[in-house]
Amino acid sequence: MATPSLVLPKELPYEFLKKITDDFSDDRKISDSPFGILYKGINPDDGKVIAVKKLQENAPMPPNKAFAQEVQNVMALKHDNIVQLVGFCSETTKRLVQFDKRYIQADITESLICYEYLPNGSLQKNLFGTKGDKVVSSVKPDIDWDTRFTIIKGICHGLRFLHKLDIPIIHMDLKPENILLDANMVPKIADFALSRVFGQEQTRLCTQTVVGSYGYMAPEYLYRGETSAQSDIYSLGLVIIEITTGEQNCPEKDQPSARNFIDKVREKWTKEEHIASKYPSLEYGCLQQVLACINIGLKCVAIDRKLRPSIVDIVDMLNGLGSR
Ligand SMILES: Nc1ncnc2c1ncn2[C@@H]1O[C@H](COP(=O)(O)OP(=O)(O)O)[C@@H](O)[C@H]1O
Ligand SMILES: [Mg+2]
Repeated sequence: MATPSLVLPKELPYEFLKKITDDFSDDRKISDSPFGILYKGINPDDGKVIAVKKLQENAPMPPNKAFAQEVQNVMALKHDNIVQLVGFCSETTKRLVQFDKRYIQADITESLICYEYLPNGSLQKNLFGTKGDKVVSSVKPDIDWDTRFTIIKGICHGLRFLHKLDIPIIHMDLKPENILLDANMVPKIADFALSRVFGQEQTRLCTQTVVGSYGYMAPEYLYRGETSAQSDIYSLGLVIIEITTGEQNCPEKDQPSARNFIDKVREKWTKEEHIASKYPSLEYGCLQQVLACINIGLKCVAIDRKLRPSIVDIVDMLNGLGSR
C-alpha cells in the first residue's frame, strides 16, 4: 500500500492512522476527553507529525454528529489563526463482539480527524500550566506582554474570519483549552465539535440542548439556549481577560457563570496603579494597551448581548492600539 501524503485534507485509511499512532498506543496519547482521544501520529516514511483525534463511541454527542460538525465546518477553512485540518477517516469495519455468551458480528464505525500538530499545546497549558483540572507543569509559564497582546490579536483575527464568512460559523466553545499555539506562539482556534453554521438570513438560533463549558457560556445561551455570534464574543471576552491578567477563570462547580471572576477583574484591573504593579517593567504605551484589553474584555461580557461589540469592532479597537 502506498503511503498517502499529508498535504491536503483527505480521506486517510484507518490502517494508516493505526500505523502512525503505533496502534493508538498510550505512549502517543496527547489528551483524553469524553469526546475523543488525541494521539501524536508520526509518519515513519518521512517523519512528519500530525495530531489524530479518535472520536469516542460513547461521547456526549454521537460521534457521527461531532465528526460531521468538525469535518464539514473546518474542512475548507484556511487561515493562519485556525487549526488546519489535514485529513479524516470514517470507516466501518466488521468486528466480533461478545453478546449474551456468544459472539456476533457487528459493524463498528471509526471516526477520526487529523490536524496539523501544534507543539506548544493549548493556551490553557501555556497560561496556567494546567490541562483541564490537571496541573501539567509546576512552573507557571511567564509570557511577556507583547506576546500576550499578539496572541489576543491573533485569536480575534481568527474569530473575525469565522464570523465574517459568507455562511458564518459560530464556534460555541471558545476557551483557553481550545486555542492552540504553534512553535512561534501563533494562536490557532481549534475544537469545532460544538460549532454551528448559520444560514445567511439566520442570525440567532434557539437550541434545546445546551452544551458548552462552564464559565465561558454566555448567559442567554446558558439559560435560554439562544445562540448567536454574540455568544462567541462573551467567551472571547473571558479569554482576553485571562490572557491580559494572567488570572484564571475557575467557575465553582455549582456556579456556571463567571460573574464572580468578572466582578473581581472589574474591581482591580480597571485601575492603572494595579496594572502597573502587575506589569512593573512596562512603559506607558503598553500599560494603556493592557487597560484597553481589559476594557474590551469587559465590554464583551456584558449580560445584554446587544451591548457587546462585534468582532469587527474589536479588531478595529485592537488595531488602534499600535503594536508597541
Ligand atoms: N493539533 C494539535 N496539536 C497538539 N495538541 C493538540 C492538538 N489538538 C488538540 N491538542 C491538545 O488536546 C486537547 C484537546 O483537544 P480538543 O480538540 O480540544 O478536543 P476535545 O476537547 O474534544 O477533547 C487540547 O486542549 C490540546 O491540549
Ligand atoms: Mg476541547
